[in-house]
Amino acid sequence: NQREIAIAIDGPAAAGKSTVAKMVAEKLGYIYIDTGAMYRALTMKALIERVDLEDENGLVELLGGTAITLEQSVNGQIVMLDDRDVTLDIRTNEVTNHVSYVAKHRKIRQEMVRRQQELASDRGVVMDGRDIGTHVLPEAEVKIFLVATVEERAKRRYEENLKKGFTSSMDELKEEIAQRDQIDSEREASPLLKAADAKEIDTTSLTIEQVAERILDEASQAITRQGR
Ligand code: CDP
Ligand code: CDP
Repeated sequence: NQREIAIAIDGPAAAGKSTVAKMVAEKLGYIYIDTGAMYRALTMKALIERVDLEDENGLVELLGGTAITLEQSVNGQIVMLDDRDVTLDIRTNEVTNHVSYVAKHRKIRQEMVRRQQELASDRGVVMDGRDIGTHVLPEAEVKIFLVATVEERAKRRYEENLKKGFTSSMDELKEEIAQRDQIDSEREASPLLKAADAKEIDTTSLTIEQVAERILDEASQAITRQGR
């Protein structure tokens, strides 16, 4: 469909990217691609196989023999690592606290970007991550950069954890988020950065619906332009 566009959503941890990306994709009937899940899956495998996370070539070799697929199901996205469903396993603290060390390697990013571009080759796609607007989909018709204060983001993770049945320390969450943002922003290879042509939305005091609404507005304008 000529009128289908690509929507890139970037931003720091817990800014609400995946939640609104899913909602926007559903509204438009587009596919949703969670690029963070791909880095998380590789990190999980590296931890299991005890590959040194500083060993870039070792990780490249590991990735070369690894299939990571994102399947759309009625219950949302399923992440497959080789033949195993790792949808929940890639969200553990263990993976969360190591993923940025894997994602900082240039050669790992090159291969991930190649795979992500292949997944998005059909348009009609909403993709979220850290480098989507800058590197993965530089031609995306809509680019969004979501931000929120670190306090608000820690609070969101805290509430998310409560729903899953465990209490976490707010200070620890804040520390974990700030540390991951720092590594992601300071790495040399495609760091977390707002693309020059991205629209920044501060979600600190917005509901999920309000954020989705704004992105859908941008999308419908872009779709109209596309149709001309
Ligand atoms: O959902 P959350 O904000 O916790 O993180 P995520 O989107 O699942 O991403 C996990 C990690 O993967 C990030 O902290 C980055 O280190 C890395 N990542 C990346 O480098 N580039 C992307 N396009 C997506 C994720
Ligand atoms: O993908 P990312 O790490 O950027 O964030 P997320 O996992 O989509 O969102 C983190 C949490 O914040 C989720 O539990 C959302 O329900 C909540 N939230 C939000 O995403 N946006 C708001 N405006 C308010 C809350």
